Amino acid sequence: MDRKIGIGILGLGVVGSGIIHIIKENKEMLYKKIGSNLSIERVLVQDIEKDRNVTLPKKLLTTNPDDVLKNPDIDIVIEVIGGTDDAYIFIEEALNNRKHVVTANKDLIALYGSELHDLAEQQGCDLFYEASVGGGIPVLRGLTDGLVSDEIQEVMGIINGTTNYILTKMDEEGVPFEEALQDAQKLGFAEADPTADIKGLDAARKMAILARLAFHMNVALDDIETRGITNISLTDLEYGKQLGLTMKLIGMAKTHNDTVEVSVQPTFIANVHPLSAVKNEYNAVYVKGKAVGETMFYGPGAGSLPTATAIMADVIHVAKNIQLGITGKSGPIIERSARLSPPHLRTSSFYIRLHVHDRVGSFAHISQLFQDMDMSFKRIVQTPMKKQQTAEIILVTHQTSLESFTNAMNKLQQMDVVKSIESYYQIEGETV
Ligand code: NDP
Ligand code: HSE
Repeated sequence: MDRKIGIGILGLGVVGSGIIHIIKENKEMLYKKIGSNLSIERVLVQDIEKDRNVTLPKKLLTTNPDDVLKNPDIDIVIEVIGGTDDAYIFIEEALNNRKHVVTANKDLIALYGSELHDLAEQQGCDLFYEASVGGGIPVLRGLTDGLVSDEIQEVMGIINGTTNYILTKMDEEGVPFEEALQDAQKLGFAEADPTADIKGLDAARKMAILARLAFHMNVALDDIETRGITNISLTDLEYGKQLGLTMKLIGMAKTHNDTVEVSVQPTFIANVHPLSAVKNEYNAVYVKGKAVGETMFYGPGAGSLPTATAIMADVIHVAKNIQLGITGKSGPIIERSARLSPPHLRTSSFYIRLHVHDRVGSFAHISQLFQDMDMSFKRIVQTPMKKQQTAEIILVTHQTSLESFTNAMNKLQQMDVVKSIESYYQIEGETV
């Protein structure tokens, strides 16, 4: 007799449609791999009459969550509606009804991952969320399985497809920010409200998940320094080209003894660094372990089929666990809440763009300030501007602590010769 695993899906948008496509397209291959048929029992949507990218018998669609959450034929609930309100209620109820849960929802897992894991464990259920970080890249399983025996020291990466797509279009084709964002929305990469993408919040949520799995610590979202890409100017991108640097929205998590720094910010990446070559909606996560050294996970970070592939990896994992009778043991080991690294332990080199009064001695004053603070420059570019008596100066510092850099910026701001600090960014990788 054929064995069957019942699937209920919450949401049939970009990701939900991809899941249906893969289950239908790869039916026989999935059967061979799992030894059971995956049977789509019900799919929750808001609007049954809406035109969809996939064909599905209409009787499978429902607007009543109970048709999925209380359905005795459903073993695994896949949540792809997004958000933290209904999604939380639905996942909690699914677990309370002893259904295994697979989700792509980083917002929810970043905020409530620990408590949902506790509930899943109590109920003997699996809770997996590979698709929540890095779209189709198996980076979470890379951390929890492949690198499980190692002590992870650093996780750094491009983990938002929308912003990487926008920055690539701005940098390579000079496309204005708004137009590039609209394209990313049409292609299905952006969140329903793209503010979370462009302000860096989506990436911050993903960093909370990565840091939790990498360092076995809970990092509060408020403790993640977050800057988005809304203020990036084409001027800085152009200077970057002259200096061999490419702008990326970078998530960073590093340990310093028993403390951790976690941030998301636009960062100049040296063109010799592999992350500089990651373009469009692609993501890449660089992981450094004490034993393994440097590794990198690369692939499509958003989009219907790549994300659905990650979801299906989780579904198959649950299906195998069901057959082996070992569900409910999937939670990560969390040792404690993170203690944040103080600024004197955090080091980087920096790019600074200043407008100064174009008069004799301006530059010498600035150099003196940096010399007094024991900070040295690697590159300096000075350009006279059309604005009368103003010059633009670009400084690239050597490695320095965040503490020294912040002090230098405060002092620069107070100098008479400095008209404005236009922008500043961290630099990663060896500049030439
Ligand atoms: P979409 O907006 O394309 O789809 C959302 C779906 O959920 C729609 O079918 C919608 O119904 C349904 N829905 C929304 N709210 C409710 C509700 N309260 N009750 C019932 N149904 C509801 O989103 P995506 O598919 O793009 O994203 C889904 C999740 O996957 C999000 O958490 C997102 O962050 C995550 N994700 C998305 C990626 C991507 O590339 N798009 C990549 C990685 C993760 P209807 O169609 O009737 O309106
Ligand atoms: N909006 C997200 C992104 C989807 O652009 O990366 C994938 O998580």
